[in-house]
Amino acid sequence: MKRTPAGELTRDAIGERVLLRGWIDSRRDHGGVTFIDLRDRSGRAQVVLRAEDSPEPAVALTAARDEWVIEVEGEVVARAAPNPDLPTGEIEVIADRAAVLSTTRGLPFNSATALDATEETRLRYRYLDLRRPELQRNLILRDQIDFEVRRYFHEHDFVHIETPILTRSTPEGARDYLVPSRVQRGSFYALPQSPQIFKQILMVAGFERYVQIARCFRDEDLRADRQPEFTQVDVEMSFVEEGDIFELIEGLFEHIFPLVGIEPRTPFPRMRYAEAELRYGTDRPDLRFGLEIADLTEGLAQSGFRAFQSAAASGGAVRAIAVPGAADATRKQVDGWVRLARQHGAAGVLTLRNRGGKLVFQVKDTLTESELSWSAERLGLKDGGLALIVAADAPIAAAALGALRVAVAEEYGLVDESRHEFLWITEFPLVEWDEEDGRWYSVNHPFTSPDPRDLDRLESDLGAVRARGYDVILNGVELGGGSIRIHEPGLQQRVFGLLGIGEEEAEARFGHLLDALRFGAPPHGGIALGLDRIVMLMAGADSLRDVIAFPKTTSAASLMTGAPSPVDSEQLAELGIRVAGEPGSQGPSGDE
Ligand code: AMO
Repeated sequence: MKRTPAGELTRDAIGERVLLRGWIDSRRDHGGVTFIDLRDRSGRAQVVLRAEDSPEPAVALTAARDEWVIEVEGEVVARAAPNPDLPTGEIEVIADRAAVLSTTRGLPFNSATALDATEETRLRYRYLDLRRPELQRNLILRDQIDFEVRRYFHEHDFVHIETPILTRSTPEGARDYLVPSRVQRGSFYALPQSPQIFKQILMVAGFERYVQIARCFRDEDLRADRQPEFTQVDVEMSFVEEGDIFELIEGLFEHIFPLVGIEPRTPFPRMRYAEAELRYGTDRPDLRFGLEIADLTEGLAQSGFRAFQSAAASGGAVRAIAVPGAADATRKQVDGWVRLARQHGAAGVLTLRNRGGKLVFQVKDTLTESELSWSAERLGLKDGGLALIVAADAPIAAAALGALRVAVAEEYGLVDESRHEFLWITEFPLVEWDEEDGRWYSVNHPFTSPDPRDLDRLESDLGAVRARGYDVILNGVELGGGSIRIHEPGLQQRVFGLLGIGEEEAEARFGHLLDALRFGAPPHGGIALGLDRIVMLMAGADSLRDVIAFPKTTSAASLMTGAPSPVDSEQLAELGIRVAGEPGSQGPSGDE
């Protein structure tokens, strides 16, 4: 007899004989009658064991507990009391044969109690957690998205090409994971942070349209939206401009988002990086709510309040957001916002309240009536509203208000969850200054083309040079990023030089790319999308862990396999490696 998926049983099956195999989701004993919810991948169905009518199955399953694997055969009948919450709620299966296929030891949790178990326990027994319908749904959705992504690119004439995992460093701003070579002692492969260099070389090779669902590896501080290994939809095209890439990706999103009932509006709005920083204090603004940042520097530079004066005098800024209906915010709320602003380097947050048209600044007798009304006007601060003001260096004011904007929107329920706001951020700066290291770093990666309008400023005003880089954002999450690349070896070398990578070092680290660029490189550009993040947003999940089958913890460990783990000394000796300090001890930056 062929097995029937439990979740597919409907009224149509009434009167049929079926064979079900699956897990006991729950069981309820009522004297001579036992009800078992049998679960398999397709869903759940109710199985009834009647000791009196048919003793054999009841005996076979006497000891059976939650999560045992069983098979039952019997007839599908209409339920006396249908359960409208269950797709199979109109029927049940009266078992006349049953067998235990597999038992379980004491369970650390079951699907009903999983969310009460600690995250650690759930990750350790990941296979049990993965039995939860929600995680099953997420991974099945992931498969559908993966399939549709491949179909889309295939239909658009892209070639899916695999690039090596054991390779040289491909820098994307994180540390590399290294793999020692046994054959060449003291030499190491790096796992790719992205296939960036390979995909550019594939353009030199003439493929013109490349795509890869690519695993990437980055040793960096982890968060809910970052994993040490993750998957990119990696794309590169020859003979393109920014607009071609935008159109391609908008088409992709129009193709996949409807899988979850989201219809993106295209073309996506475009916003320059500088404008996003100014208006939203971030390069990935969430446009599902307002709370735009207003600049008050101009009107408050001469005010009687010292912090405003000095911020303006030292080239900084006075900026603020107006929160409607928040005039009655408590001391505790304000303290929380002050702490948040401080985490972003600001000295604090000042409040300005509008109570029945009367404007009250936190520090009395410092601002004139006209300064107050000018500020309220500029902010759109209405009756019952509260303005949060930060005076600091412009990047700090932006970061603090960017964070406050998001926190306050959540606190006051201003985020419209039904909206899906896609946008492109363009014209990123080419480089950023790192105070600690005292040098410039690429904002994207060193292969990004500078904006041709700024080429003559490369040496004279590097910090102000714009790049041909772009990101695609959804609801404040960076889904992907890319750029038009440098395809002239001379310019590539010049950019390396500005980043403090001398000629010799450039040849040693990136000689293969520089060489390839010297052999007829077409103009090219591309993008990489975070597949995990796309699935996370499409599934409505809060963390990448919920859309990755076997995720790692914030210390990049797998609690199920125990990776990473010490290896025995013979293996190390073969590789010519000696471990300094205790094996397994926390390294200099065990990020947690
Ligand atoms: P970038 O570094 O911006 O660009 O990465 C592209 C996208 O990959 C996702 N992503 C991550 N997802 C999960 N965990 C991580 N640790 C992680 N890091 C990045 C993000 C991000 O937007 N080579 C360039 C692309 C290009 O220029 O074509 C690159 O890798 O969604």
